[in-house]
Amino acid sequence: MSWEQLWLNYKAKENYGGRDFFKVITKKAGGVIIDCAADELVRAAQGFFGLTPSVEEHGADSGIILQITDNGKIAKAEGFRVYNKVGAVYVESPTDKGILYGVFALIRCVMLNVDLHYIDISESPDNPIRMINHWDDFNGNIERGYSGRSFFFKENDIIVNERTKDYARLMASIGINCSTVNNVNVKGVAAELVTEKHFDKLRQIAEIFAGYGIKMFLSLNWASPMKLGGLDTADPLDESVINWWKERVEAIYQNIPGFGGFLVKADSEGEPGPFTYGRDHAQGANMLANLVKPHGGIIIWRCFVYNCKQDWRDKVTDRAKAAYDNFSPLDGKFLDNVILQIKNGPMDFQVREPVTPLFGALKHTNQILEVQIAQEYTGHQKDVCYLVPSWKETLDFRTYMSQDHDTVGDIVSGKAFGGSNCGFAAVSNTGDEPNWTSNDLAAANLYGFGRLAWNTGLSSEEIAYEWTVLTLSNEPQVVKNVAYILLNSWPAYENYTSPLGIGWMINPGIHYGPNVDGYEYDVWGTYHRADHKGIGVDRSSKGTGYATQYNDPNRIMYETPDACPTELLLFFHRLSYDYVLKTGKTLIQHIYDSHFDGADAVEVMIKQWRECKEFLPLAVYERVMKKFDEQSLNSKNWRDTVNTYFYRKSMINDKHGRLIHT
Ligand code: GCU
Repeated sequence: MSWEQLWLNYKAKENYGGRDFFKVITKKAGGVIIDCAADELVRAAQGFFGLTPSVEEHGADSGIILQITDNGKIAKAEGFRVYNKVGAVYVESPTDKGILYGVFALIRCVMLNVDLHYIDISESPDNPIRMINHWDDFNGNIERGYSGRSFFFKENDIIVNERTKDYARLMASIGINCSTVNNVNVKGVAAELVTEKHFDKLRQIAEIFAGYGIKMFLSLNWASPMKLGGLDTADPLDESVINWWKERVEAIYQNIPGFGGFLVKADSEGEPGPFTYGRDHAQGANMLANLVKPHGGIIIWRCFVYNCKQDWRDKVTDRAKAAYDNFSPLDGKFLDNVILQIKNGPMDFQVREPVTPLFGALKHTNQILEVQIAQEYTGHQKDVCYLVPSWKETLDFRTYMSQDHDTVGDIVSGKAFGGSNCGFAAVSNTGDEPNWTSNDLAAANLYGFGRLAWNTGLSSEEIAYEWTVLTLSNEPQVVKNVAYILLNSWPAYENYTSPLGIGWMINPGIHYGPNVDGYEYDVWGTYHRADHKGIGVDRSSKGTGYATQYNDPNRIMYETPDACPTELLLFFHRLSYDYVLKTGKTLIQHIYDSHFDGADAVEVMIKQWRECKEFLPLAVYERVMKKFDEQSLNSKNWRDTVNTYFYRKSMINDKHGRLIHT
């Protein structure tokens, strides 16, 4: 096998008390999902104990028993209970999917050394939709991919093989139930994925996914009726356009049963959309939603819509305001099977951004939170950057749109407004490299996203612990040091890159390495506006007015530098270099210190990793070490570039007299 099993690597377990439960597996329910669940237990038994269980349909009450129950004790359809009763371990759920999730939870418990004689766990997912978005191009390239080529596509063809199944197993094991396999930017012949040419292989993928409870989605190109259908318009209200899509949708559902629906990037970064025809996004999304509705399909409509042709001299237009401006007036206008997919921040997956105010502005619209596991702006999976803590901050953010149940997590889980067309989505960091994510430590983000989407109450620490034990080792030294590395990695990256929420300052295009003015005079609307007097963007009511998009008291908090959280200070305010922060340091001293601290923190992480060497497979140890070597250089490069830039601009010396140079 040329790829690894990540957290499903069922290594031999010596002296584990629960071995005998794995001798018999009884399936008291039928269907492909139950078969996949039983197969997984067989794999686990072989790996852990070298034994092959007998799989029966009407066995005695011993071993592991998979059964459908509807006794009302399990909260949701996908929920499960795993418990021991007189010598057998029962995995129960009202649905086969719930049983599958229960089986993966049971296997996880074994890997975490839980005693199956006393097991009794009940779980139900927090988010109805738990989705991975692949930005895989049809030619095999991956947009913002740092782990090799696509394992779904190669040279404008679809790949279906054992890896497709292992992908589905990995995703199901962390609770993922939806996956969009192609890039949101649907270029060239990729638009043809909605045609008969590709249905056969897409159906094969969808069937493999279905065995693991995953619905397959596709991204589409808004202009397809023109590109593929030869029409002269893609106007969503034009009858010929509607008919063209109707025919496509029907053909898709006929050939790919259980197809989930479409993910749409429209009027965004050069992609076509309804704006061209003077239509709004509700008109566009609803047209498609009407067509997929009879088949149970949904339309996921992205809100990443902004003017990407700005002039840096224009201080009125503020990219940060765009999602709110474009979508909040449409609240209540979308059909029930449309879900708006909203990026966590108002800009674009920077290491630190405020939570977008669009959450908090929509009361009658289904919403999905979108985050990025792929480390586009956070180190390209060369630099370790464990992002679970940042996602938790977003989920926990109070929008103050009501008295209670008003966090982002409440909104996207359905707790705020009810309904099940909502959830949590992420851009994948996978590729065809043997370890899937290039840097082994980046897999903690993939694992963490799924676990958090399932249970938003898990802490970053718990997730880091689980992932480490499942994937690397349960040696105390490894558990301790890897937890240290993961939990300190996001603050370190933030410290050595751009200060105080200002973001960007990264090499344009590739988005790795420092380039303070890289985007400063460009059209993308991402300005920091540093000069010899100060830095930052005034987004208060006296500036661009972005802060006014928040509900009180968030608006009040962001309105003045005194109340604004330090980590977002320069996102909301323009300040002079001698401005004194809450810490008592001047702004310039903070910039110097945090950059030295961030680069120093990388050396500490490297030391911690070295201490794990004897407990890890050499290949894993060395792979990560190579990444750390790159991170070490990158962090120093950032430190020196950013500090030099601000030293030159401010001409204020570092209080500690450290050498600032590039
Ligand atoms: C970012 C990213 C693009 C991507 C876009 C999106 O701008 O750089 O590669 O297409 O986000 O989310 O659609």
